[in-house]
Amino acid sequence: MCGIFGYIGKNAVEMCLQGLKLLEYRGYDSSGIAYIKDSSLYIQKSIGPLNNLEKKALQAKGDIPIIGHTRWATHGAANLENAHPHTDITQSLAIVHNGIIENYTELREKFQFNQLASETDTEIIACLISYFYEKDLLQAVIKTLKLLKGSYALAIIHKDYPDQIIATCNQSPLAIGYSENQAFVASDVHAFSGINLHSVILKNYEVAVIKKGKALFFNQSLQSIEKKAEKIFIDHHSISKQGFQHFMMKEIHEQPITFQNAIANRFSLEAGQIFFHELQDLKPLLKNINHVVIVGCGSSWHAGLMGAQLIEKKAHILTTCEIASEFRYKDPLLSKKSLVFAISQSGETADTIAAVKIAKEKGATVVGICNKENSSLEREAEKTVFLHAGPEISVCSTKAFLSQLAVLSLLANYLGSINNSLSKEYISEYLHELVQIPLKIQQVLSDKDQLEKLASKYSHYDQMLFIGRNLMAAASLEAALKLKEISYINAQAYPAGELKHGPIALLDETLPVIGLCLNSLTLEKTVSNLMEAKARNAPVICFTYEGSKDIPSVFQDTIYLPPTIDDLAPFTVCTATQLFAYFVAKKRNCNIDKPRNLAKSVTVE
Ligand code: M6R
Repeated sequence: MCGIFGYIGKNAVEMCLQGLKLLEYRGYDSSGIAYIKDSSLYIQKSIGPLNNLEKKALQAKGDIPIIGHTRWATHGAANLENAHPHTDITQSLAIVHNGIIENYTELREKFQFNQLASETDTEIIACLISYFYEKDLLQAVIKTLKLLKGSYALAIIHKDYPDQIIATCNQSPLAIGYSENQAFVASDVHAFSGINLHSVILKNYEVAVIKKGKALFFNQSLQSIEKKAEKIFIDHHSISKQGFQHFMMKEIHEQPITFQNAIANRFSLEAGQIFFHELQDLKPLLKNINHVVIVGCGSSWHAGLMGAQLIEKKAHILTTCEIASEFRYKDPLLSKKSLVFAISQSGETADTIAAVKIAKEKGATVVGICNKENSSLEREAEKTVFLHAGPEISVCSTKAFLSQLAVLSLLANYLGSINNSLSKEYISEYLHELVQIPLKIQQVLSDKDQLEKLASKYSHYDQMLFIGRNLMAAASLEAALKLKEISYINAQAYPAGELKHGPIALLDETLPVIGLCLNSLTLEKTVSNLMEAKARNAPVICFTYEGSKDIPSVFQDTIYLPPTIDDLAPFTVCTATQLFAYFVAKKRNCNIDKPRNLAKSVTVE
């Protein structure tokens, strides 16, 4: 994980801190910068979020090369020693690293580096470059790279080179940007700022020597290579909480709009038609596929689970949804008739990108479902369907998740329409209900007091269990993930019918059971499971439709949500469980937007 940033130009420290701020979604355990000034190397580091570094960072005048890092700890605790940049023993060079060096122990022993200052896998790279350095930094870097196993994006500065940064990568994204007066290197092109920038994405094992106004590229045989630069303009529209206490709450409240953005220009209510312009070229293939696989991680996987159920039901195509980190190691059965949807808000999740590469190798067609343009996923996928949810800042995914669901719901019906599994009348009825969803989400938001009260009543429990059937089983997984990641409550989820096969042994008065009863087909069955929980003294909370009958009054609490059809119920219930998680976390004084140990984008395995 981690974000790396490098800059050459005026106001270097300020620019570097600004770039790192935009990369903080990759980790915020500690941060640091290093620059060369008057032939000396300066390093500053801080533990915790970037604000801590900002408070003490020295300013340096002139066009200097600077590198910076925001860390998500892999090797070694989040302390100053392990914070990047790391340096060699002579303090001549500094490096920042994103990735994992898998053979660092072996290299440390082989080269007998016995006096390391940190526990990181990164320091070994600095030591090796120094070991090979004989007045040619590029040579030393290339000799070092040949020994490394694992993933890396690196930016390197050296006292003898006061006007350059060397950058290279393998299996970790790295972008280079330059204009007449400045040069950038960063884990993500969105961390650049400026006009008339030329940008280049480095491929594995390529090395860039970056100077103000230009970048030279080499392969690992030190041969110069040509790379075509694209002109880009990155505009950072100001991101604020708009009066909300946390980004998470702001983003939950954006959902009526972001839902509309996700479906906009993708259907005609009058004609009862769905279209995805970005998939137009694939239409002949889509009519012929016999297998759909959805891959993703975390909330994206949960959205995929619901999407898989919907695609199978609507388009009558065998559909599976797999956790990307598992899929990549299972030698999946795919063919030219397989369609893979890779879902990722950030488009940078390492496991999802690896899954995409495997699917491509096996001949499948990959379509990305993504919120971020210019992401690794967009580059790897054949086509990308964008969510248009706008930047999601809170680590906990809310609006992007709901937009993923919106897109998958439409896609399922789209596939069903192009392979004639669904009639025009069916699509028309579905679309008429779909367009009501923003209003229903708004209604859940307007009634949020009931969820705040519920949260106050249950926030002292240390464990909770969510259950549901059909789409509500995946909604339960998502509800539990929201709660555990921001409140640190041990929240788990099970398909309701599984309770009796083991988890029921856990039940007593210390474990509230929350039933998501918004699937009319299975409502009575899920209510029966809640009764079984009640009989074992578990406090029972039921989320259901307004007007649904047969909800026993013996349950401790029942939350009523606006009614809709079963296929669209996840939108209201997920909004409600997001709010519940938020209020519980607030009550427990947790760091809601930046929960401990997490990062917004998970770029390591
Ligand atoms: O950017 P991605 O959608 O690929 O991220 C996947 C997960 O890391 C992400 O959904 C994570 O689970 C969130 N923290 C959930 O709120």
